[in-house]
Amino acid sequence: MAKIISNKYLGQDIHVMKIEGNFKGEMGQFYMVRSWDNYPVLSRPLSIHDIDDEGISFLYRVVGDGTKNFSKLEVNDEIKLEGPYGNGFPKVEGKVLLVGGGMGVAPLYLTAKRVSKLEDVEKLDVFMGFREKEMLKGEYEKYADNVHINVGGIITDDVDVDKYDYIFTCGPEIMMEKLVKMAKGKDTKVYVSIEKRMACGIGACLVCTCKTKDGNKKTCKDGPVFLGEDVFYE
Ligand SMILES: Cc1cc2nc3c(=O)[nH]c(=O)nc-3n(C[C@H](O)[C@H](O)[C@H](O)COP(=O)(O)OP(=O)(O)OC[C@H]3O[C@@H](n4cnc5c(N)ncnc54)[C@H](O)[C@@H]3O)c2cc1C
Ligand code: FES
Repeated sequence: MAKIISNKYLGQDIHVMKIEGNFKGEMGQFYMVRSWDNYPVLSRPLSIHDIDDEGISFLYRVVGDGTKNFSKLEVNDEIKLEGPYGNGFPKVEGKVLLVGGGMGVAPLYLTAKRVSKLEDVEKLDVFMGFREKEMLKGEYEKYADNVHINVGGIITDDVDVDKYDYIFTCGPEIMMEKLVKMAKGKDTKVYVSIEKRMACGIGACLVCTCKTKDGNKKTCKDGPVFLGEDVFYE
């Protein structure tokens, strides 16, 4: 069990929760999180938003009973975390773009922080698309050369894939698929973070199966990060 340090409401049903402790995790990995005993039955997967000397943070939107429970937690309340799980984004070089749509921006903060420190990265841009209102621009600006926001439009319309060696993306599948198609036949490599319903989080139940060009994969163990062309290949 770990203790809540803060659980702030940011508007639009979105909260950022910080938990005390010395947590491990790579960019794009996730934890299975629960703050209840019996209901809901399953822990909920949340991407690592940030890790610092005090603890780990998760950025989450309230969509059902599990996330509603998280939103009611107060300072010093207890919470259980298991992880880090999943593969995470690869370490890359050159010119890198992170593209997040909606709650897909959650894992991109730790990702921006870690990518900005990679020795051979020349440039890091972050593009984020929101339906109603922007958030956290200043936070991402701490690590990115350029943070571009699109509210109410289509974020992929603003991307020039030729400018980048690598694109990491998380958010609606339609957005990630579009980026993969835009990069098809070019040198730019696109990595996508896939979101599926999860039960065990460790590769034991097959609830999170993802169809890829090389057959079915477990999103929790083989992913959640995949090379885009392996997932959106049709
Ligand atoms: C690897 C991974 C990382 C994630 N990271 C984050 C994060 O950082 N922040 C965040 O807000 N959310 C994240 N999610 C989604 C989050 O796990 C779900 O929103 C949460 O489990 C919903 O639980 P609930 O009890 O509140 O809602 P439920 O009652 O379980 O579901 C409410 C609604 O959300 C849908 N839903 C639930 N889980 C998923 C899912 N995994 N994929 C698609 N639809 C779903 C349900 O179909 C239903 O319509 C992540 C999911 C995965 C798989
Ligand atoms: S959630 Fe059980 S195998 Fe992925």
